Amino acid sequence: MSIVIKSAEEIAGMRVAGRLAAEVLDFVAPFVKPGVTTGELDRLCHDYMVSVQQTVPAPLNYAPPGYRPFPKAICTSVNHQVCHGIPDERKTLKTGDVLNIDVTVIKDGFHGDTSRMYFVGEPSIAARRLSEVTYECMWRGIAQVRQGSTIGDIGHAIQVHAEENGYSVVREFCGHGIGRKFHEEPQILHYGKPNTLEKLAAGMIFTVEPMINAGRREIKELADGWTIVTKDHSLSAQWEHTVLVTESGYEVLTRSAGMPPPPASITGGEEAREHEHA
Ligand code: MF3
Ligand code: CO
Ligand code: CO
Repeated sequence: MSIVIKSAEEIAGMRVAGRLAAEVLDFVAPFVKPGVTTGELDRLCHDYMVSVQQTVPAPLNYAPPGYRPFPKAICTSVNHQVCHGIPDERKTLKTGDVLNIDVTVIKDGFHGDTSRMYFVGEPSIAARRLSEVTYECMWRGIAQVRQGSTIGDIGHAIQVHAEENGYSVVREFCGHGIGRKFHEEPQILHYGKPNTLEKLAAGMIFTVEPMINAGRREIKELADGWTIVTKDHSLSAQWEHTVLVTESGYEVLTRSAGMPPPPASITGGEEAREHEHA
């Protein structure tokens, strides 16, 4: 097992990167309107990162083994797209579309990774409910995070809430350790059993990013080599935060002024959040 325990200096760097990633999501929100293309959202975010923040968009040219280089600065996954959607100048958003925008920035060598759901005009009741339940899933997973709990505890909390609501959890993609590397150990599964897999220790940093489908959990990859869609074409939603394990709980690193608040049902983290740095 080689899960990196971050030093105080590394944690400070990760706080900055996390906040900057979240601020890109704040920045792009007003541009998500009927008629905009996902390519335009990518260009806006790219220019904000590079010119305003002086961050590096981590997805651009990212090429893990077996993948061709990702061609854009952010991921935009619309409706039945699960994740890793490639922004496209020909993809115009229309009223009723729902999409995930996933931003990863690199600042001073540290990665911050976060994503949110956005509505284009008014969503359907089904799409709103899926997005809300997925948000609760992410937070129920995060609420399990503290020194001594396990990776299985996180996955279990997410899976139970998704399935109680009649949804399914995507298995092929998971949260991940993050730091100087975009993706490192451990894998954070979004399903599982309590008190299984590795124990969490203070100083670990990883993402929690459940992908939840309204229909069946099976997925397929499109011919572009990146975009993942639901096999049954049902809607899919995802939210993501980067989280630090502390002795008493957790600290969400991908915070910003425009970040939606945790659901009212999340109380376990209150104490931890009081200790968070502004
Ligand atoms: N940001 C995604 C994650 O949460 C990874 C995207 S890889 C890319 O892990 F190349 F598609 F950008
Ligand atoms: Co991630
Ligand atoms: Co991400």
